[in-house]
Amino acid sequence: MTPRSHPPTPPGWFVTGTDTGVGKTVVACALAEELRARHIDVGVMKPIETGVGGQGPLDAMALAEAAGADDALERICPVQLALPAAPSAAAAAEGSEITLPRIRAAFDALRARHECMIVEGAGGLLVPIRERDSMADLARELGLPLLIVARGRLGTINHTLLTLEVAAARGLPVAGVILSHGPIPLSSADAANLSVLRGLLGDKLLGEIPPFDPGEGAPAGAIALDRLLASGTRVETR
Ligand SMILES: Nc1ncnc2c1ncn2[C@@H]1O[C@H](COP(=O)(O)OP(=O)(O)OP(=O)(O)O)[C@@H](O)[C@H]1O
Ligand SMILES: [Mg+2]
Repeated sequence: MTPRSHPPTPPGWFVTGTDTGVGKTVVACALAEELRARHIDVGVMKPIETGVGGQGPLDAMALAEAAGADDALERICPVQLALPAAPSAAAAAEGSEITLPRIRAAFDALRARHECMIVEGAGGLLVPIRERDSMADLARELGLPLLIVARGRLGTINHTLLTLEVAAARGLPVAGVILSHGPIPLSSADAANLSVLRGLLGDKLLGEIPPFDPGEGAPAGAIALDRLLASGTRVETR
């Protein structure tokens, strides 16, 4: 492995989103590929995947491929549920319950094998996992700073600021925000909206993923990796 200079690699990131379908997997895969290109050994996890059909947990499989991780899929994705619903609802539909220690055990085993970890949440921060536990509690349990993925469309200012407020209220460190524009070019209203959001985010904005064609992914360099690596585990205050 190629020796690297300081700063040391952070322990990883918990990739959350302002919603489902905003581009978390796109960003997590792009980040894994960028880290690999720098000879950083990255492990991945999609601890809870819902809507899992006969093809298996597709997000977890995409993450594993992007990272080149040969870990068991049952560790990368220890909770696989068929119903495409919030984790607590999908688990209840199968008569099961999701517990944080079970996910923590799989995470610890992976963390011990890799230099850093990329963990993709399900939905957004307040999506329920079990009783009063939410994705925010899982992020805290794993001790990773948040990388927040947001849409590039109308509505995203409110969703992004709400997510930052929840992170701050819970004392969760935020490494930064990535905006994914989605498959359709931005309208002039979207573009005007985004310029406002860019101003509000300032140096928290660590990249934007422009529209890409089906079957492709984020262009190389879309994530400001040096700034992300330097962000460490600082806690944002508002
Ligand atoms: N910048 C973009 N250009 C083109 N397509 C995009 C872009 N960002 C996301 N997509 C597409 O939007 C869809 C949703 O993205 P993705 O699966 O990454 O979202 P997610 O937040 O991980 O969703 P989930 O909550 O289901 O895990 C995918 O088909 C993805 O390829
Ligand atoms: Mg996903």
